[in-house]
Amino acid sequence: MQAKDVQDDLKNVLFTKEEIQAKIDELAAQIDADYEGKDVLLVGVLKGAIMVVADLSRALKNHYTMDWMAVSSYGSGTKSSGVVRILKDLDTDLTGRDVLIVEDIIDSGLTLAWLKQNLASRGAASVEICALLRKPAVVKTDIDVKYIGWDIDPEFVVGYGLDFAEKYRNLDCIATLHPHVYS
Ligand code: IMP
Ligand code: MG
Repeated sequence: MQAKDVQDDLKNVLFTKEEIQAKIDELAAQIDADYEGKDVLLVGVLKGAIMVVADLSRALKNHYTMDWMAVSSYGSGTKSSGVVRILKDLDTDLTGRDVLIVEDIIDSGLTLAWLKQNLASRGAASVEICALLRKPAVVKTDIDVKYIGWDIDPEFVVGYGLDFAEKYRNLDCIATLHPHVYS
């Protein structure tokens, strides 16, 4: 789905498909350089991170293995509470592994802070984070994010894996929505 297919719903396109791909390539080059010679496990956080993992993993030039987790953070509507429940766990033993968590967006950061701690407690050699987007104005933890695509204003965004009520994940760009969509 492209912006023109849902143009009545979108307020503003923040990042086009091309801009996203360029950013993903940039992140992949940094990751390849930093983890040269290491056996890295990419952990994608379902469902939002699917597009990031799909494109990032293909932009990487070294070998990486992949696994997935689904977590749900208790909270109302669009607000996260920091209390996290695992809906789908990893199949991989993390003992001694270098783990790179791949996320779509850091809002409060509470989900990721919990996840990073949880994976570290399983004996991983290292746990780092790569997130395509971050909203610095609303981040509530001083969580260290090694790879970040863009910092954005604290507005709700959709597309490229990010949803509103499970819709717009298949939009190829990242955009804000008109208020009429929410009501
Ligand atoms: P956090 O724990 O507040 O950082 O929430 C993180 C999760 O909430 C993200 O991984 C997204 O799945 C979701 N989320 C946060 N902000 C947005 C947004 O602007 N659009 C869509 N989903 C969002
Ligand atoms: Mg997410």
